[in-house]
Amino acid sequence: MCGIVGYIGKNKAVPVLINGLLSLEYRGYDSAGIAVLNNNKGNNNTYEEIEVIKDKGRVKNIQNSKKLINVEDSNIGIAHTRWATHGKPSKENAHPHLDNSKKIAVVHNGIIENYSEIRNFLYQNGYELYSETDTEVIPNLIHYYYNKNKDVLKAVSLALKKLKGSYAIEVISPIFNDEIIVAKKESPLVIGVGKNEKYIASDIPAILKYTKDFYFMDDNEIAVIKEDTIRFYDDDLKEKNKELKNIGWDAEASEKNGYEDYMLKEIYEQPKAIFETIGTTLNGRKIDLPLEEIDFGKINKIYIVACGTAMHAGMVAKYSIEKYCKISTEVDMASEFRYRNPIIDENTLCIFISQSGETADTIAALKLAKEKHSKTLSIVNVVGSTISRISDFVLYTHAGPEVAVASTKAYTCQLTLLNIAALYIAEKIAKNEKDLKEIEKVKEEIKLLPNKVKETLNTNQMIKKLAQKFYNSKDIFYIGRNIDYGACLEASLKLKEISYIHSEGYAAGELKHGPIALIEKGVPVIGIITEESLALKTISNIQEVITRGADVVIVTNKKIEDKNYMEVIKIPECISYLSPILSIIPMQLLAYYIAKNKELDVDKPRNLAKSVTVE
Ligand code: M6R
Repeated sequence: MCGIVGYIGKNKAVPVLINGLLSLEYRGYDSAGIAVLNNNKGNNNTYEEIEVIKDKGRVKNIQNSKKLINVEDSNIGIAHTRWATHGKPSKENAHPHLDNSKKIAVVHNGIIENYSEIRNFLYQNGYELYSETDTEVIPNLIHYYYNKNKDVLKAVSLALKKLKGSYAIEVISPIFNDEIIVAKKESPLVIGVGKNEKYIASDIPAILKYTKDFYFMDDNEIAVIKEDTIRFYDDDLKEKNKELKNIGWDAEASEKNGYEDYMLKEIYEQPKAIFETIGTTLNGRKIDLPLEEIDFGKINKIYIVACGTAMHAGMVAKYSIEKYCKISTEVDMASEFRYRNPIIDENTLCIFISQSGETADTIAALKLAKEKHSKTLSIVNVVGSTISRISDFVLYTHAGPEVAVASTKAYTCQLTLLNIAALYIAEKIAKNEKDLKEIEKVKEEIKLLPNKVKETLNTNQMIKKLAQKFYNSKDIFYIGRNIDYGACLEASLKLKEISYIHSEGYAAGELKHGPIALIEKGVPVIGIITEESLALKTISNIQEVITRGADVVIVTNKKIEDKNYMEVIKIPECISYLSPILSIIPMQLLAYYIAKNKELDVDKPRNLAKSVTVE
């Protein structure tokens, strides 16, 4: 995964690099480093050397380094925070990496799959390699080609042509005067534009406080960035034009604003985020979506493809899509879908859900669906991200920047938008007045969601107390049926990713086919019950675990008779298809407070990165 930042301009580079890295730490925090060109320009007005400061561990090690004093005046630099793939987390493996002549510095996000082959090629040509990384081959390969033709841009382009795999790279060198060369393939890279200064980053929030104007790099593009110009090239170095886009996000949205952690802030931002998502799509009684070109009458199958939390949003939305649109809907993990030759064609609508819009498996699945000529629609949060650009149609959730690794507001916005999209499709193919009336009723319910989410956040104090009881548990189970089962999967993922407690989300009726063997005295089991028609059945399953000693908590909007439950968490009334947008709120809070009780880093859980740009 990894995060990269770059700066060139009239101001000091180091603060921009460090701030950018701190904001990108969610992408990896095994090591960090910066490289800058120092300001002692030589006779022919070029920089003379590259200064590299890097270390194992978090960005703060660089931020606190005494060596920063030596480079504080520089105004060109690149930086990196690492999520280790090739080579253990160590200072040697930290980026930036230099070529043997120490004249070319590179930071890289991605994986070079043929790096051993290139290492051998470099050894044969007299180069030494000092790290275990795949990245170190890049500056040396650039150097190899530069020695042949003395043209840096050409050398970069020739080196990139040798690479198999994915990359977003930044290159600086005193050889070329006052510029940063960047390139990308299958890893994200944005360039922010200021007045006589340019910013580069893996994502928008890292540099949002400096600019709202961005170029989004496409695969196989190279850019040469100077403080006052940017030139874009394709991989054959043919110059091309690109459109500068203004991002509506405000910079404060990516700060903590007094909250202890991003995750808590993002949980509390949900009423606003959902309100914004509804506001841009549902005007009065009219649903406005840019999907006029799709003939929904011809769609006979829907696939929802995504990863992690985004996939859970799909699993929940499947129920409302099937109910209102009456089109058979399958949900698949992108990492499975991409390798199983799915039966899809031009009458299939494939929906790809992604907060970041950069998840490698989802991108690959999307490309496959396009190859097979199915219609592709993405539900994405990050404007201009790869998925949003390559799908035929895109709908944006308006969650704003989501920084915490654990997805919260993006998820509830995805669910809201998926429900709105389901109603839009249903309206287009509705066969009778009764169906249309029902659709109108759901639209009104959707508009009530922001206030109901706000009300649900009032469960906070109760959840805090519950977290104190549960934080030492070894396992926690979440059970529910139908639409509540989807909510259980998401509740369980939230808990395990930030609290490191083993947890399962299980279909309540399936528990007795195996997992019930794990239930013993004191094991917490949380039952989610919002689906009216199945409430009694779930209650029966809950009695089965109470009999075996479980401590049961119920999350519900139904009137439920107390039958030895430890706690009943009441959420507002709402139609069952929308209720997972509410039932997940106390579960997000529970995961959060359990992790806090364990004194864990909630925003940056171990082994995880926010955006998974590798396979
Ligand atoms: O950016 P995406 O929505 O494509 O990310 C997909 C998953 O990696 C993501 O939802 C992950 O499961 C979250 N950490 C869960 O909180």
